[in-house]
Amino acid sequence: MVALKSHNSAFCPKCYKSFFLRQVSRGIESQKLFTRDDRILVALSGGKDSLGLMLALSLLGYTAVGLHVDLGIPGSSAAARGVTERFCARHGFKLLVRETAAEGLPIPLVKERLRRPVCSVCGKIKRRLFNEVTVREGFDALATGHNLDDETARLFSNVLRWDAAYLADQGPFLEAEAGFARKVKPLWRLTEFETANYAFLMGIENHYAPCPYSPGATFSSLKSLLRRLEASMPGRKLDFYQSFLERGRSFFTRSQPEKATLLAPCPLCGYPTSSGGECGVCRIRMALEEKSV
Ligand code: AMP
Ligand code: FES
Ligand code: ZN
Repeated sequence: MVALKSHNSAFCPKCYKSFFLRQVSRGIESQKLFTRDDRILVALSGGKDSLGLMLALSLLGYTAVGLHVDLGIPGSSAAARGVTERFCARHGFKLLVRETAAEGLPIPLVKERLRRPVCSVCGKIKRRLFNEVTVREGFDALATGHNLDDETARLFSNVLRWDAAYLADQGPFLEAEAGFARKVKPLWRLTEFETANYAFLMGIENHYAPCPYSPGATFSSLKSLLRRLEASMPGRKLDFYQSFLERGRSFFTRSQPEKATLLAPCPLCGYPTSSGGECGVCRIRMALEEKSV
């Protein structure tokens, strides 16, 4: 049995799988993330969330293709890629793979040569590749496996700083604009515990590996704080996030200038950027090249 206090219910394995799919479906439909006519590119890290999402989307009748970004980190990336490839082969899912090293951006070199925190640079590179493939291959949206714990921790962090620009953009749906693909997070109603249970019950082999370069997972202290809150007030996390979407977010959206008006093509690669010069990824590439001479 899987007991969920937040839903005041307990499920046998069969009913739990139906519950999970219903929650994914509700998450997609209530926020109009996409329809069954759309082609979705799912970013697959090899972790339980993204693999579970891919399987759920396919069982719900959506058209989904996987994308794995191989970061080239020794002792970690090969395992993540292997798990992703075996999962896609087992279920007959199409998988695209991009390697950061092939783009002149191997992550171990980023760590060795740049003084900036490696995980934030890595995140920037991943997001660029996700977006490029989604736009170039004509997908309607890019889906990631972010769950309710990821989303509420990020929301809480943005609220603690009252970061209006980040709050305006936060949510499971980010509309496409000027060279940027639509981004969606269909697991926003499900907690980490719930996606872990689904992956376990569906027999999904996954790669649990926090980034080897990062001492702690992103937002880990905020996540444990919210977990304690949830333990004493079941359902609070989903309510916090959902109420933000329904009643809070519009206040921040209204106060932001149109992003498209701030964008210009990068003089080196043509990618839209608000930096006023070369885009962030070209700057990373240049910094790596400078340090290698
Ligand atoms: P993380 O920031 O590592 O928690 O990952 C959040 C989401 O980003 C995952 O659920 C995936 O959808 C996606 N993702 C992270 N790393 C990769 C990767 N190397 N390749 C493809 N997708 C990824
Ligand atoms: Fe990629 Fe840390 S180096 S997330
Ligand atoms: Zn560029």
